[in-house]
Amino acid sequence: MVRLLRDGLLLASNELPNLAYQCKVNGRPSFLKGEWETLMRAGEASRTARQNALFRALEARRAAPARVADDPMAVQFLSPEFRLLAELARVPPLRRLIEGVIDNRWPCARGGVVARTRLIDETVVAELPRVRQALILGAGFDTRAYRLGGMKTVRVFEVDHPATQAAKQHVLPPNGLLTAHVTFVPVVFGMDDPARQLSTAGFDPDARTLVLWEGVTNYLDSESVDTTFGFLKSALGSGSPVIFTYVDRAMLDGSVRFPGAETTMRAVGRVGEPFTFGFAPDEVPAYLAERGFELMWDVAVSDAAQRFYPPESCPTVPAYYHVVASRRT
Ligand SMILES: C[S@@+](CC[C@H](N)C(=O)[O-])C[C@H]1O[C@@H](n2cnc3c(N)ncnc32)[C@H](O)[C@@H]1O
Repeated sequence: MVRLLRDGLLLASNELPNLAYQCKVNGRPSFLKGEWETLMRAGEASRTARQNALFRALEARRAAPARVADDPMAVQFLSPEFRLLAELARVPPLRRLIEGVIDNRWPCARGGVVARTRLIDETVVAELPRVRQALILGAGFDTRAYRLGGMKTVRVFEVDHPATQAAKQHVLPPNGLLTAHVTFVPVVFGMDDPARQLSTAGFDPDARTLVLWEGVTNYLDSESVDTTFGFLKSALGSGSPVIFTYVDRAMLDGSVRFPGAETTMRAVGRVGEPFTFGFAPDEVPAYLAERGFELMWDVAVSDAAQRFYPPESCPTVPAYYHVVASRRT
């Protein structure tokens, strides 16, 4: 068991420097310009997406009453080394040890992903009765389409890079029982036209649609974020909710010293792939209004964590990472 744990941590720790930042390769900062291309041209799924799945899988190993987010499917998408960790984490002391190693190496990442998963889950469930479609951009190994009540009553479009999507479909074959309500739309942002591909896939631009754009804007440049909001403005019916995440720009420029941010930025610097885009929280309402959206709420994941975690087990969670709910006007 000790050997298994040591090997698992060793294997996984090779990935850890890149946690949440592996989405860029070749130092190219723009999501829409295809920075994951090198990995994905080689047919590899996004590692960031797998890492997020690891955090959710570890959380799923907690006993039900203590679980902050509940994603029992996450484990199915893990790489062999991450799956080993998830298996070891069935033993509570080992799970705590694994989480401790991850949190020490990469403060904020795990707790931030778990807290935002819960916040977004609750928001999606609340919005679903008012929409006819759901559009998940950069879906990765998001399993909300399969595990959240109400999802089966809407048409779901999962948009992602073909390489990540292929890995997901390996686990969840299209047209299977679980995926009957889901249309997978492979799109390479920066190369393909998402509006055209969605239209071909049967997406209805007049229908009220719930959009989820999680874990992506911090890897983009401002032009790419702008282009995506432009696309959403033209593709969404009035009243459509758009949920997205961003990092506080003050974390990027160092003007505010957020707990965990320095370690995060150093780690990012080590791999030569810093966060490239953030909003100042007070500019978000006007930014959205100028692009045809109104802000509903903007919550730092640290606040979400305080709401969801019991105080004695709350991990370090970033105050600079935000979840926003907005609505197409
Ligand atoms: C950081 S992961 C987020 C995954 C998921 N939303 C989450 O929060 O766990 C980014 C996602 O964007 C996708 N992606 C990266 N580059 C892309 C590109 N050029 N075109 C389309 N999708 C891309 C990856 O496949 C991955 O699923």
